Amino acid sequence: MKQFIFGIIVGFAIVFAGAYVYFGYGLAPVATSDSPMPMERYFARKALHARIDRQAPKRDVSTFTAADLAAGAAIYQKNCAFCHGLPGQPENTAPKGMFPYPPQLFTSDGMVTDDPVGITYWKVKNGIRLSGMPGFHATLTDQDIWDVSALLARADKLPPDAANVLKLPLGDPPASATTNAPAPTTAPDWNNARQISPEALVAKLSGPKAERPVVLQIGFRVLYEGGHIPGAVYAGPASTQNGLANLRAEAAKLSKNQEIVIYCGCCPWEKCPNVHPAYDELRKIGFTRLVVLLLPRDFAHDWVAEGYPVARGNK
Ligand code: HEC
Repeated sequence: MKQFIFGIIVGFAIVFAGAYVYFGYGLAPVATSDSPMPMERYFARKALHARIDRQAPKRDVSTFTAADLAAGAAIYQKNCAFCHGLPGQPENTAPKGMFPYPPQLFTSDGMVTDDPVGITYWKVKNGIRLSGMPGFHATLTDQDIWDVSALLARADKLPPDAANVLKLPLGDPPASATTNAPAPTTAPDWNNARQISPEALVAKLSGPKAERPVVLQIGFRVLYEGGHIPGAVYAGPASTQNGLANLRAEAAKLSKNQEIVIYCGCCPWEKCPNVHPAYDELRKIGFTRLVVLLLPRDFAHDWVAEGYPVARGNK
C-alpha cells in the first residue's frame, strides 16, 4: 500500500515537473503562429461547446425580417468585417497573423449557416476566450447582436438589402466597435446649420419639383459609387484641396438661393473630415439655404440600413 501511494506521488511529481519544464522553459506555444499545444484544440472546443450548449438561447431564424438582416449587415460591416471578411471582397490582411485565424464568415468554408442562431448569438455576445474574438455585450445592444447573428445564419441566402449593405467598402477597423455608444440624434449645432432627417429629405425629394433641394455628396468617391442618394451630385471630398475645387465647380452651376443639402456619411459626425469644410466653403461662396443631412452614425447605418432609396455607380 505504501509503495502504491509513493508511486502515485512520484507520478504526480513527474507530471508537474514535466509541465513546469514545458511552460517554464518557453517550450509551450505562446506565439499565435505556433502549432497548438497537445490537445489544446480538443479541450478548448470541448469546454466552449459544453458551455454554449447549456446557455445559448433559442430563436427561429425565419422570424427575422429583411430589415433586421439589413440592420445586421450594417453592424457586421462596421464591427466584424475587419476580421471576418465581406462577400466577394478580398480578405483583409491584418487578421492573418491571428491564432486562431478568424473564419471568413461569407466563404463556404467559414460560414456558420449550420449553427442555430442562438449559438452564434452566444459567441458574439460573450466572445471566445483565448482567441481574438471579442465579446460584444458591452458595445452592441441585444437586438444588434441578434440581427448580426441572424445575418450570419442566412449568409448563404442573403436578401438584396442586406447584400447591398455588405457591398459598401470596409469600415474603420474594429476599434470603432468600442465607441459604438448610443449615437447622437442631432448634429452638433455648429454655425447654426439647418439640419434635415433622412425621412424628411426622402419626402422632400419626392415632393413638388420646384421645392426639391439639390443634394451634394461631399465625401469620398468610393462611398458615392458604393451607394448614394438617388440624384445626388458627387462634389467631394471636401477634406482635400482638389475636393474643394470640385465643390466650387459644382456650386458654380447653381443659383445662390437654391436650397442645398450636403452629406458625407463616411463616419460619425464628430469624426467626419468633410462636412465642416464643405459647409464653410459653400457659406463663403454665398449660399444661404444650406442644410446638413443628419447621419449621426454613417450612411450605411442611417440611410441604407433604414431602407431609404440608394443609387449606385456614377449616376
Ligand atoms: C479582432 C478580430 C475579430 C472581430 C472584430 C470579430 N471577430 Fe469573430 N472571431 C474572431 C476569431 C479569431 C474567431 C475564431 C475563434 C476560435 O476559433 O476559437 C472568431 C469566431 C467567430 C465566430 C465563430 C465561428 C465558428 O466557426 O464557430 C462567430 C460566429 C463570430 N466570430 C462572429 C463575429 C461577429 C458577428 C463579429 C462582429 C460583431 C465578430 N465576430 C468580430 C475574431 C474576430
